[in-house]
Amino acid sequence: MKRITAAALALALICTFAVVAPADDYPSRPITMIVPFAAGGPTDVVGRLLAQYMGQALGQNIVVEDVTGAAGTIGVGRAAHAPPDGYTLSLGHWSTHVVNGAIYKLNYDLLDDFAPITLLPSNPMLIVAGTSMPAKNLAELVAWIRDHPNATMGTAGVGSGSHIAGVYFEKLTGAHVQFVPYRGTDPALLDLMAGRIDVMFDQVSEASAKLNDGRIKAYAVTAKARLPSLPDIPTVDEAGLPGLYINIWYGLWAPKGTPAPVIVKLDRAAVAAMADPTVQKRFAELGLDMPPRARQTPQALGALQKAEIEKWWPIIKAAGIKAQ
Ligand code: MLT
Repeated sequence: MKRITAAALALALICTFAVVAPADDYPSRPITMIVPFAAGGPTDVVGRLLAQYMGQALGQNIVVEDVTGAAGTIGVGRAAHAPPDGYTLSLGHWSTHVVNGAIYKLNYDLLDDFAPITLLPSNPMLIVAGTSMPAKNLAELVAWIRDHPNATMGTAGVGSGSHIAGVYFEKLTGAHVQFVPYRGTDPALLDLMAGRIDVMFDQVSEASAKLNDGRIKAYAVTAKARLPSLPDIPTVDEAGLPGLYINIWYGLWAPKGTPAPVIVKLDRAAVAAMADPTVQKRFAELGLDMPPRARQTPQALGALQKAEIEKWWPIIKAAGIKAQ
């Protein structure tokens, strides 16, 4: 009996060592970061910048793979079922790692199947239209939508940030739009500028450059205060959509079971990337807010994700939003 216990103990030690040991030479080959929306969109832009600078910190390439569709659930699902060895990461945000759990019958669990790595920057959204839209302010935009029963609103799929914002817009205004799903907001924005759809909610990080170039119009920002970078754009409260606050915060996760030393290495690499002056400048230009250093941790991301699930799932379920 004693011998069995000793043998079991030895085996347990070997197994523990086998699980922890890889961090010493980790990463010994390129890492894949799964971005669950279209290339060129806000999630992809955050992912590519982070991948480049995290890769430098780790001395290994991080390759971004855009696995798109169904509001990010296809890409996040791929990451959830990847081997937990630190070579597949899941980049996501408020909608992919919180909202989708309230809408979709997922083949993964947002909390149980992922290990948080770190909290990343955040930004609010803008309600935008193409330059041919005649409405000069939000009240006129709502009136225009009411007069046009076939008015279209682009989204990145049912349950994406752009869609949830649109559903809230409908609830607050009583105006109805025809939602048009895309694989990300970048292709939707291209169609908006080409006049193929009428309006959409888009993250500041993607929309502000086009706004400053005069290629789109913006009617309100989904934040409590005006943005220093866009001082002329009213808040949703000022514009007539009281309380429509949406802040898209980003995070990085690994499949559950990824060894703790690997998570520590990845968190440190993300922290180093976010401390790099070039990355800080680029995020600031895009209008993304860096989390304070004390919150760039697995614990802060895990706690925020849990708190946001508790807050948003009842709201989303009550709103009756379902995957079509
Ligand atoms: C994207 O990267 O296309 C967006 O983050 C999608 C969204 O609106 O949630």
